[in-house]
Amino acid sequence: MYNILDEAFEKRYAVPQFNMNGLIWMEAILKTAEKCRAPVIVGTTDKIVDQLGGFRLLAHTFHVMKEELGITVPAVLHLDHGQAVERCYAAIDAGYDSVMFDGSKMPIEDNIAYTQKVVEYAHANDVTVEAEVGSVGGSEDGISSELLYADPNECIRLADETGVDSLAPALGSVHGKYQGEPNLGFLQMEELRKAIDIPFVLHGASGISNDELEQTISYGHAKINYNTELNIAWSNALRHKLMEERELYNPMEILKPSKEALNQTTEKVLKRTGAYQRA
Ligand code: 13P
Ligand code: ZN
Ligand code: NA
Repeated sequence: MYNILDEAFEKRYAVPQFNMNGLIWMEAILKTAEKCRAPVIVGTTDKIVDQLGGFRLLAHTFHVMKEELGITVPAVLHLDHGQAVERCYAAIDAGYDSVMFDGSKMPIEDNIAYTQKVVEYAHANDVTVEAEVGSVGGSEDGISSELLYADPNECIRLADETGVDSLAPALGSVHGKYQGEPNLGFLQMEELRKAIDIPFVLHGASGISNDELEQTISYGHAKINYNTELNIAWSNALRHKLMEERELYNPMEILKPSKEALNQTTEKVLKRTGAYQRA
């Protein structure tokens, strides 16, 4: 993932991470990225990995699917919100390209110490690492957190002491839907950008307006995470199809519109973050 994020960071656009919730997602994300000539990141939350068959199954499937679909744009598989050092090691051993160690619930000392371990193992295997400071609010795959704005000094310390490749400073974003308007910490982003020279990552991007997104990208957020927006599009299309044709039971037919909804939403987001036509 080194090249993908560094280039986006330098040119001030962002590569979206789309979370997958089934193989249909993987296929839609890869095909659409290829069609749009865009670099792309497929994310699997730590929880979904077990639901979908484990790290090895997902990593192998990802690599075979890329081959079968003839994917030529840069496309990487990333562990999202890795909950333990061992989970990051397992992803790396299985062939993931990138991992996030999520130490956001720990005291900063522990977050730094564990992130260091993951970085050491990952870099020895040519895998990139993302870390989080503060806490993204809301809930994802049954893991919920209070929104906690990152302390800039802790961000600087973690970046300096771990040699991590990208940092997600939680500055007001929320997983899932927003209750009321998002309140992003642009002042902190500006301050952090002056002090830290690695790409930032924005979590909880579903529900953030285009204006706010542009601002976050201008402060060097080069990776923007989307899960909820695709899930809403998928569910709405599926619901509509099932309500419209109540006798239908052919899974291929039932899933056609929701697959198409994933394609369309992926394309829309690739254009929104500026990744479109960059590959
Ligand atoms: P959303 O729930 O806003 O799509 O956020 C996704 C995310 O941050 C994945 O880690
Ligand atoms: Zn997240
Ligand atoms: Na969100």
